[in-house]
Amino acid sequence: MYSLAPARLFDLSALKKLEDVVFKEDAWPVLDILTILIIPGGINLKAQDDKSIIGFISVEQNLFEPVAWVSTVGVAPEYRRQGVGKSLMMAVEKLVRRPVICLCVRKSNEGAIHLYEELGYQKKETRPQYYADGEDAYVMTKKLDKI
Ligand SMILES: CC(C)(COP(=O)(O)OP(=O)(O)OC[C@H]1O[C@@H](n2cnc3c(N)ncnc32)[C@H](O)[C@@H]1OP(=O)(O)O)[C@@H](O)C(=O)NCCC(=O)NCCS
Repeated sequence: MYSLAPARLFDLSALKKLEDVVFKEDAWPVLDILTILIIPGGINLKAQDDKSIIGFISVEQNLFEPVAWVSTVGVAPEYRRQGVGKSLMMAVEKLVRRPVICLCVRKSNEGAIHLYEELGYQKKETRPQYYADGEDAYVMTKKLDKI
């Protein structure tokens, strides 16, 4: 069993540990995680069981942009394929105050792309060599029923 709750500054150390396990060499430095936790307009949710944080999602809502961006979503390997990622995505979509939500995903990340397509996201464009190792990203978007 797990529950979803807002992620706060006091979760920083646990989130960094999760980030390292989930993204390995692509993991964000602690300062980047700190920034998303404190930036105005951000939505940060954690999934937790009785022992630890098992998933995390962060969404940016820039004041001057009409779209929200999922900046990161990840679930600990041993908790995958149990609906945690989907729950995190669906929960932030309810909280977003923008008509469109977007994200970038590695072209090779078939599992994540499958999840996003299942939730109604569509591939909109390709960003060549978006990632540090030179891999392209798909930008995927979804219209939300919001003003
Ligand atoms: C992508 C990620 C967040 C998905 O989290 P998750 O909790 O395992 O996803 P869910 O259990 O909610 O999956 C829901 C549905 O999405 C699809 N899906 C998820 N992972 C999949 C995979 N590896 N392969 C194929 N389909 C997948 C399936 O349809 C799944 O439903 P099912 O299990 O009933 O078949 C997780 O795999 C992860 O953290 N990956 C590493 C980090 C990452 O790539 N993040 C995304 C960066 S853009």
